[in-house]
Amino acid sequence: MAELVQRYLDDLVAEYAGVSDGALADYIPELTQVDSSGFGLTLSSSDGFLYESGDARTEFTIQSISKPFTYALALDQVGEDAVDAKISVDDMTTTPKNPMINAGAIASVALVPAAGPDERFAKIRDFYSACAGRPLEFDEDVYRSEKATGSRNRAIAYMLDSFGVLADDPDEVLDVYFRQCSLRVTSADLARMGATLARGGVNPQTGRRVTSTRVVQRTLSVMVTCGMYNAAGDWVSAVGMPAKSGVGGGIVAVLPGQLGIGVYSPLLDARGNSVRGVLVCRSLSERLGLHFLTV
Ligand code: DON
Repeated sequence: MAELVQRYLDDLVAEYAGVSDGALADYIPELTQVDSSGFGLTLSSSDGFLYESGDARTEFTIQSISKPFTYALALDQVGEDAVDAKISVDDMTTTPKNPMINAGAIASVALVPAAGPDERFAKIRDFYSACAGRPLEFDEDVYRSEKATGSRNRAIAYMLDSFGVLADDPDEVLDVYFRQCSLRVTSADLARMGATLARGGVNPQTGRRVTSTRVVQRTLSVMVTCGMYNAAGDWVSAVGMPAKSGVGGGIVAVLPGQLGIGVYSPLLDARGNSVRGVLVCRSLSERLGLHFLTV
């Protein structure tokens, strides 16, 4: 069985390696300098066995894939009521409704309790690292560029501050947001992080519980409905797994109870999702019958 799965992943990577559609993210110079042919695919079973193919150990920045994990950490640390008071259900539009878009993601950062930005970032990095099962490194150059060019995020943070959503200084919260986006992962890390969610908050490799099943359920719910930007509807019908993409070229996908998938390929489609990442996930889902609504 293990050999079959391995061969299947290798075949998939070979099948899509020739696809060169899409473009590198170019809003900061660092992302234009990556090798556009990079292509890594990793699948982690729910018992922690890894199947890897291609550039599965190439590091890239996690970017927006950080959003569900910081949302999970905020839920874990302060509970649903405190999170919902700042992110979700307000009809008067004064609070961001969605932790997968930047306003909600920045609000999530501010909800992680800490004495200051360094402690907050350390908690976030430790949480992602516990999900990945290894200490994640930080990309200083990407962070500096994100910070230097982040006017839109700055505008969002100040708007949130004016609505009273941020309990802390908006520049300090943003600094942590830019740092979390600049953490470096591989497709293997993403598969392990996905498998940790698939196992209801237990990292299958280390055996460590990183959060509760309820937090995972909430996190996967927002990933299902809005993890793939404007492609979320197509994604749910074609792939049928909670997922999150990032402009660094990564995608994490989760089949609850079963597995985590990590893909890396930095050429993005018009919606900001990895072209080959989407193709591979569609294929995996179809051929292995992974759609979560399969009856
Ligand atoms: O501009 C930002 O917020 C980014 N650093 C995060 C970008 C991201 O991955 C969003 N899209 N895929």
